[in-house]
Amino acid sequence: MANIVIIGTQWGDEGKGKIVDLLAEYADLVVRFQGGNNAGHTMVVKGEQVISHLVPSGILQGKICMIGNGVVVDPAVLIEEMDYLIAKGVACGPEQLMVSERAQVIMPYHQAIDKAREKKKGKDKIGTTGRGIGPAYEDKATRHGLRFVDLVDADGFNEKLAAILPEKNFYLEKYLEEQPLDHGTIFKQYNAYAKRLAPHVADVSVTVNRAMQEGKQVLFEGAQGTHLDIDHGTYPFVTSSNTVSGNACCGSGVGPKAINGVIGVVKAYTTRVGAGPFPSELLDDVGNYLQSKGAEFGATTGRRRRCGWLDTVILNNAVRLNGLTGLAITKLDVLGGLDQLRICTGYRYKGKTMESFPASLKVLAQCEPVYESIDGWKEDISNINRYEKLPDKVKQYLGRIEALTGVPIQIISVGPQRDQTIVLENPFDGK
Ligand code: GDP
Ligand code: IMO
Ligand code: MG
Repeated sequence: MANIVIIGTQWGDEGKGKIVDLLAEYADLVVRFQGGNNAGHTMVVKGEQVISHLVPSGILQGKICMIGNGVVVDPAVLIEEMDYLIAKGVACGPEQLMVSERAQVIMPYHQAIDKAREKKKGKDKIGTTGRGIGPAYEDKATRHGLRFVDLVDADGFNEKLAAILPEKNFYLEKYLEEQPLDHGTIFKQYNAYAKRLAPHVADVSVTVNRAMQEGKQVLFEGAQGTHLDIDHGTYPFVTSSNTVSGNACCGSGVGPKAINGVIGVVKAYTTRVGAGPFPSELLDDVGNYLQSKGAEFGATTGRRRRCGWLDTVILNNAVRLNGLTGLAITKLDVLGGLDQLRICTGYRYKGKTMESFPASLKVLAQCEPVYESIDGWKEDISNINRYEKLPDKVKQYLGRIEALTGVPIQIISVGPQRDQTIVLENPFDGK
C-alpha cells in the first residue's frame, strides 16, 4: 500500500495533470490539497483534451476525487467544471467528487479585489490569475473566511456575509475605486451554489484516513510549483499557498507518516507565467522555439509562458524542500531539433558560486546563470514507448538530470497523451 504526493518543481505547468491522470490508475482516491482555480491541469486521453482547474485529475480514471480543506474553491467554477465533465460522460456525483466542509469559499469580492489591486499596481503587478486566490487565503488567515460548512447553512451564511461585506465594500470603493457589491445578489447566487453542492460537502480528512486504514492508495495532487510557494518561492512573485509536499498533509488532514513517496514533476526545460525572477530565461529564438513547439500558453489564462533552459539550482531546491523520492520528466519531445542544449547548474554572484537559492530578489537579479552544454538530438521521440529505444543523446540528457539532482527518474513523458509515457518505475510498486 502506498500514498504518493505529486508536486511541481519549477514555476507551475510542469505537466502535473498528465502525471496524476496516468498514476491515478493505481490509486483509489485522488486529493487536491492547496491552491484553487488558478491551476490549470491538462489531461489528454484518446486524443481528447480535458483541462481541470479544481476537480482532481483522477476523475477521468473514474477514481474518487476530493478537494481538501487547504483548497480555496470558487463554487461557480466547480459547478461549471462538473457540468463540463458530466457532458463528456464523466461520472461526477457525490460518490465520485467530494469537497471538504473546511475548504474556503472564494467570494465575488475576492476576485474584484484581486483584479483591482493588480490594476492599481500597474507595472509592479504580480501577474496573478485574477481568480481571487490571494484575497481568499488572506481572509482565511485573518479569520474572515467563509467555509463550505458555512455555505450550506443558509442563515449562518447570510449573517456572516452581512458582517464581512461592508468592510469589503469600503475597501473596494474607497481605496480601490471600484463598484461596491450587493449583498442580496451575492446571497441569492451563493444559495443556489450551496443547494447544488451540498451533497458533495464532506469531512475529507475522515474519509481519506478511513480509506487509508482500509488499505486504499491515495494520490495527492499538488498545484502550482515549488518556486511559487508562499514561503519558499520567489516571494512576492508567488501564489498564496504552500505548494510544497508537506502541505499535502495540512491541506487534506492526514499525518506525515501516511506519505510514502513524493514525485517531483520536472519540465525538461523551464517556464513561468506572470512576473518574477527567472534566471535561465531565454529572450531569444531558442526561447521562442520552446514556446511555440511546446505550445506554452497558460491553461487558465491563455497567457504566453516565458521559457528558458532547465535549471538544476531550482530543481535541487525542490529536491530538498519536498523530499523528492522520484522525478517525472515531461515535455522531453519539445527539446528535439536543437543542436545544443544547456543546463543551468549554478548561479554566480559577485564572482562566487551560490551554495543555495537566494531569498533576496535583489541578489537573484544579479546572479549570472552558470551553464553546462550538452548535445541535442534531432529525432522525434514522441512515439517512443521504451527507454532502450531513446536516442543516446536523450539518455545522456536524462543521465545529467539524475546526476545533478541525485534523484531517480521514474517517469518520462514524450507527448501530451496518457500513452506517450515511459514508466521506468511505478511509484506505487514495492512500497
Ligand atoms: P500542469 O499545470 O502542471 O498540470 O501543466 P499544464 O496542463 O498547465 O501544462 C502542461 C502542458 O503540456 C499541457 O498542455 C499538456 O497537455 C502538455 N504536456 C504534458 N506532458 C507533455 C509532454 O511530454 N510533451 C508535450 N509535448 N506536451 C506535454
Ligand atoms: P498550475 O497548477 C503557473 C502564478 C500566476 C502568478 C502567481 C500568483 O497549473 O501549475 P495567483 O493567481 O495564484 O495569485 O497568481 O502564480 N500561478 C501559476 N503559474 N501554473 C499555475 O498553476 C499557477 N497558479 C498561479 O501566474 O504569477
Ligand atoms: Mg497548469
